[in-house]
Amino acid sequence: MLQIDLKGKKAFIAGVGDDQGFGWAIAKALAEAGAEIIIGTWTPILKIFTSSLKAGKFDSARRLCDGSLLQFSKIYPLDASFDFPDQVPQEVRENKRYKDVGGYTISEVANEVAKDFGKIDILVHSLANAPEVKNSLLETSRQGYLAAMSSSSYSLISLVSHFGPHMQTGGSILSLTYLASQYVIPGYGGGMSSSKAALESDTRTLAWEAGRKWNLRVNAISAGPLGSRAAKAIGFIERMIDYSLSNAPLKKDLKAKEVGQTAAFLLSPLASAITGATLYVDNGLNTMGIAVDSPTLAKGD
Ligand SMILES: NC(=O)c1ccc[n+]([C@@H]2O[C@H](COP(=O)([O-])OP(=O)(O)OC[C@H]3O[C@@H](n4cnc5c(N)ncnc54)[C@H](O)[C@@H]3O)[C@@H](O)[C@H]2O)c1
Repeated sequence: MLQIDLKGKKAFIAGVGDDQGFGWAIAKALAEAGAEIIIGTWTPILKIFTSSLKAGKFDSARRLCDGSLLQFSKIYPLDASFDFPDQVPQEVRENKRYKDVGGYTISEVANEVAKDFGKIDILVHSLANAPEVKNSLLETSRQGYLAAMSSSSYSLISLVSHFGPHMQTGGSILSLTYLASQYVIPGYGGGMSSSKAALESDTRTLAWEAGRKWNLRVNAISAGPLGSRAAKAIGFIERMIDYSLSNAPLKKDLKAKEVGQTAAFLLSPLASAITGATLYVDNGLNTMGIAVDSPTLAKGD
């Protein structure tokens, strides 16, 4: 029987902060396939995440098929906007959510993970942030645009370059992207569309560079709309989900689990010849131009 078998593999997933998003679903799918799960959680939400986890708030979401609970071997604080400690501005260092936490820059986390676990097999980038996401591109400041690119795109380059030397040859890397990289999605602002375009382009270049340097694969999943915490911050995710239901070839909600399962495949040896790819997991929405039954075209009468 053909199976996704990740027994004995170690996975680091950057961007798990609750049980609603793609990072969580990917963690769960990888655990179902037998991988050991290590996560990086954004520093300002680390405390609330770990206390909710301890209090059992995620227990039902943690349940795996064999009845056991999803385990995180270790949870690292991570702020993927910073590569080295000397880049962290004073005001961030002194912020109440950061001041008691150390070692959250990408280089420090990569070194700590290597110290604690040795070489890892899988690296997942499931994070994005744009302080001006509600602004149109025309209204986005230079600072807001660069902040979006820094935490949503450059973070992948930095993660690959710092984790690469600590990954097993034949290992695999995955990030999450969105259709706004290729097509106009009004409202997905603040430079997020540009960040996703960069992420997809970088996926190809990193596949070439990390492939030749460390024999690693690098891919992206372009996911359909999901009502995660990050997506709710944009403000119109429910309408995007309705739009997909009305217009995508498959008329059903996209489940985070479906992205998790595709991720498990892409990160497994079953996908050993796939690299530099952006794979759509969106009920087929990306294939549509305009749907004649789109409610947006309906005449109100
Ligand atoms: N939800 C959607 O509709 C959708 C669609 C396509 C792609 N995506 C992508 O999926 C990925 C995961 O997002 P999600 O929708 O599952 O939401 P999510 O809220 O579960 O995940 C985003 C995570 O990024 C973390 N984060 C933000 N800034 C960070 C930083 N500087 N350093 C470290 N972590 C940081 C947040 O704490 C959060 O845990 C993102 O790349 C997102 O753009 C989402």
